[in-house]
Amino acid sequence: MNKDELRRCMIARRNSLNNKDIEKKSQTIISNLSKLSVYKYSKFIFVYVSFRSEVITKGFIMNAIKDGKRIAVPITLAEKKIIQPCEIRSLNELAPGTWGILEPKKGNYKVVDSSQIDLAIVPGLAFDYSFNRLGYGAGYYDRFLPSMNSLAIKIGICYDFQLIDSLPAEKYDIPMDVIITEKRLLFRDPNKISLRK
Ligand SMILES: Nc1ncnc2c1ncn2[C@@H]1O[C@H](COP(=O)(O)OP(=O)(O)OP(=O)(O)O)[C@@H](O)[C@H]1O
Ligand SMILES: [Mg+2]
Repeated sequence: MNKDELRRCMIARRNSLNNKDIEKKSQTIISNLSKLSVYKYSKFIFVYVSFRSEVITKGFIMNAIKDGKRIAVPITLAEKKIIQPCEIRSLNELAPGTWGILEPKKGNYKVVDSSQIDLAIVPGLAFDYSFNRLGYGAGYYDRFLPSMNSLAIKIGICYDFQLIDSLPAEKYDIPMDVIITEKRLLFRDPNKISLRK
C-alpha cells in the first residue's frame, strides 16, 4: 500500500471504533505513557490536542499540568504549512481553530521556543517497527519535530491496529523514539531514554 492508501485504510478503521472503545483504549495508552520515566523526568511537554477518533489527550494534558509540567500544544498556520508550539495552563484556553481542532485562542497565545521542549507526544495514522510515522500527509510534524532539541524524546501514540510491520517512509520522515499502544510499548534506543535526567 502506498501512503495515501494506508491513510485511507487507517482513517476508516479508526472511525469504526465506537466512543467507548476510543475512551477505553485511550485511557490505557495514556496510563502506559504516564508510567514511563521519560514522562516523570520531563519538564516541558508538547502534545497534540485530540480530534475526532484520535487517541484522546485531554485527560493527559490536565494531569500533566497538575503534575507541574509545562505544556505546549500545536497551533496550525495552514498558509505556511507549519505548526507552532503554544504554551497553555488550562484546557479552557483552547477554542476550535484550523479544521475545527482545538487550539489556543487567537490573539493572546504564547508561542514558545521549541528547543525548550523535552518530550513530544505525536499523533499518527500509522507507525511501524522501524519507528516510522505516517501522518495526515501535509508534512507538518516532519517540519516541526527537527526544530526541537535533538535530545527531546518523540513518542508516537496510537491504537494497536495502527502499529504495523512496515510503512513507506522517505528521507524527510522523522522517526519516533517510542511508540505506545494499548497493548505494546516499543523503545527505539533505550540508551537515549535512560541517559536523560
Ligand atoms: N522538512 C520538510 N521540509 C519541507 N517539506 C517537507 C518536509 N517534510 C515533509 N515535507 C513535505 O511534506 C509533504 C508531506 O509529507 P508526508 O507525506 O510525509 O506527510 P505526513 O508525515 O504524513 O504528514 P504530517 O507530518 O503533517 O502528519 C511531502 O510531500 C514533503 O515534500
Ligand atoms: Mg511524513
